[in-house]
Amino acid sequence: MSNSTFKVVTIAGATGSLGYHITDAFLNNGSYKIKILRKKPKSENKNASLLASKGAEVIYVDYNDKNDLAKTLKGTDVIVSAIGGNELEATQRTLLIAAKEAGVKRFIPSEFGCDIKTINDVHLFHASKLAFLQELEKSGIEYTIIVTGLFQEYIGILGFDHKNKKATFYADSNTKIATTALSDIGKYTVESLKLPEARNGTIRVAGSVLTLNELLKKYEEITGTKWEVSEDFTIRQRFKNNTAPVPTIMDDFAAYLTVNSDIKNLHNDKFSFTPIPVAEVISTIVKT
Ligand SMILES: NC(=O)c1ccc[n+]([C@@H]2O[C@H](COP(=O)([O-])OP(=O)(O)OC[C@H]3O[C@@H](n4cnc5c(N)ncnc54)[C@H](OP(=O)(O)O)[C@@H]3O)[C@@H](O)[C@H]2O)c1
Repeated sequence: MSNSTFKVVTIAGATGSLGYHITDAFLNNGSYKIKILRKKPKSENKNASLLASKGAEVIYVDYNDKNDLAKTLKGTDVIVSAIGGNELEATQRTLLIAAKEAGVKRFIPSEFGCDIKTINDVHLFHASKLAFLQELEKSGIEYTIIVTGLFQEYIGILGFDHKNKKATFYADSNTKIATTALSDIGKYTVESLKLPEARNGTIRVAGSVLTLNELLKKYEEITGTKWEVSEDFTIRQRFKNNTAPVPTIMDDFAAYLTVNSDIKNLHNDKFSFTPIPVAEVISTIVKT
């Protein structure tokens, strides 16, 4: 498939935390006609209005109606899914069937996180994503999986509590963590359309890869204080074995992300821009 054949990009979930930045990056690039899918019924949304004012065409769809979706997708070259929420897998399944029927050339699934295909013990929160990837790979439609590590804006989930100047490490302090700013994920997604490696492949990018200790140092420099650090390395085990004190599933997910957010074999050097320094994003986080 020649890259020059991509003219129309349709983004599902464009109003979301990540989808907004992906859509904004496509609109700023200016080389593509951009359509965004919103789920019916019609509703007011600030991000949708902003994206429409920059030139995106907003289309309301019933994600349960494959025929309606396929009709809407006629003429689309690339679908980017940035859908979130509990019905992600079911929604993407219908979208994939409709995309095939409509002759869409490439499907970029709602991933943008850990390299889940390389993880042995995938978390419950990622199980349905993995099942969808397997289905996508078998579907015959061209695809690109984009792996970005953790959103930098969400870095606090790894145990960095800037309000109380406390950190809890869920793994050894030398554990490496890949993170990427939301706006950079947008730019990586746009430029991926031009990369030969992206055709039926995984693109791995990161704005920063630092250890927990190095991230802590950034927080300490930015806040100008020494932080209190504690360790809790048994969350995953306690959650699995229901051993007291039993962690919440969110704590278990945070511990899982900590040990699974390193990314190997990065494609950063294939891209034209320098990502935002993680310290810049942390500075914004601590101000809020
Ligand atoms: N790496 C990380 O740190 C990280 C963090 C968070 C999320 N993620 C991943 O990034 C992706 C996007 O997550 P997000 O947090 O940006 O999503 P989000 O903000 O929760 O949702 C994105 C959009 O999806 C649409 N949507 C919600 N439910 C839907 C449904 N049932 N059917 C169709 N559309 C639906 C909504 O748009 P409309 O109402 O306009 O249709 C919503 O604005 C997901 O794959 C998520 O797992 C990664």
